[in-house]
Amino acid sequence: MDIRQFEERKQEHLRHALDSAHQTPHLSGLEKIHLYHEALPQLNLADISLETESLGQTARTPFLISAMTAGHSSAAALNQVFAETCEKRGWALGVGSQRRELESEQSGVDQWQELRSAFPNLNIYSNIGISQLPNRPISQILSLSEKLGAAAIVVHTNPLQEALQAEGTPDFRGTLEALENLCKNSQVPVILKETGCGFSQNTLKRLTRVKLGALDVAGLGGTHWGRLEGARAPVHSVHSRAASAFASWGETTVDSVISARKIFSGQAPSNEMEIWASGGLRTGVDAAKLIALGAIRIGFAQPALQAALEGADSLDAWMETREYELRVALFCTGCKNPNELRIRQPVTRIVPTDKRAAELEY
Ligand SMILES: Cc1cc2nc3c(=O)[nH]c(=O)nc-3n(C[C@H](O)[C@H](O)[C@H](O)COP(=O)(O)O)c2cc1C
Repeated sequence: MDIRQFEERKQEHLRHALDSAHQTPHLSGLEKIHLYHEALPQLNLADISLETESLGQTARTPFLISAMTAGHSSAAALNQVFAETCEKRGWALGVGSQRRELESEQSGVDQWQELRSAFPNLNIYSNIGISQLPNRPISQILSLSEKLGAAAIVVHTNPLQEALQAEGTPDFRGTLEALENLCKNSQVPVILKETGCGFSQNTLKRLTRVKLGALDVAGLGGTHWGRLEGARAPVHSVHSRAASAFASWGETTVDSVISARKIFSGQAPSNEMEIWASGGLRTGVDAAKLIALGAIRIGFAQPALQAALEGADSLDAWMETREYELRVALFCTGCKNPNELRIRQPVTRIVPTDKRAAELEY
């Protein structure tokens, strides 16, 4: 791998991610989810708790900063802001792709050791692309999470991005078997995550045999790599010309969560996999809707990046707002915590905004 090219690409991703043209906010499916208002909640707002059980641990909130920054030179400062604020508020932090660390055993070690000793209680997840798994000793992948003291390994899949990226590596042969093998050999849970195109029912059915700790849907509705890589590709290149045809490609976050719930809820208890929601989530109300549909953890990427670039205070205020929104949504649905929202029926209905969305109760 060309390290300089990797650094430049990561910088360009940060820059392009801030451009609203690379978002698909109208496509998340969230607008068709309605939470029933409870006019008589027998609760005190001050008693509402956001505490959440996930992967065998109790977290103060269900929230997670989705993977963005790890292996590029300006990432250390941003990682510091994310780590400090996440630890303070009880959010989990997913680091961005550690692919660069696969090239050199020592790469990243100092940065992660510093971060770990400064924030020993931070719940942090490592990150690697699925196309890096085949034909590589599993010990190398496991060492990424060991160096970081990570609570889980996030494996991201991003076929559209790799296919539209001029320097991408769109070879996904053997990735499903390699993922299965990683799950069998890892001491920490493995989480499979998309990057903004979600999961169809067909893909999810093929995952039922894989012992994942969680599936983070990262669906359509927010940052879109078809748009973003299209903008990055050299003008007049085939990647640039083709990208616009894929500007709305993917499975919505809402459809992905509903499909995952349907397909995985019948699984044996030994293979219970958590469903995590992300992709286009912007408020605590979005979070409440997805928790009502079955999600355990809730991930935000682009808006958290925007806030973090303005500093720790700005990120802290942004997080506080998301927490307060979720608390109010719990209060106004009459639920004292996220778990109650998840299990109480019915708390939400799908508003029939199109032919697919006949009114259904969950
Ligand atoms: C600048 C940037 C870098 C990203 N890098 C990674 C990455 O390295 N690994 C990964 O799994 N996802 C990566 N993502 C995808 C996000 O984790 C997330 O799935 C996606 O942006 C959708 O969430 P959003 O709509 O809240 O932005 C990145 C996103 C952004 C904005």
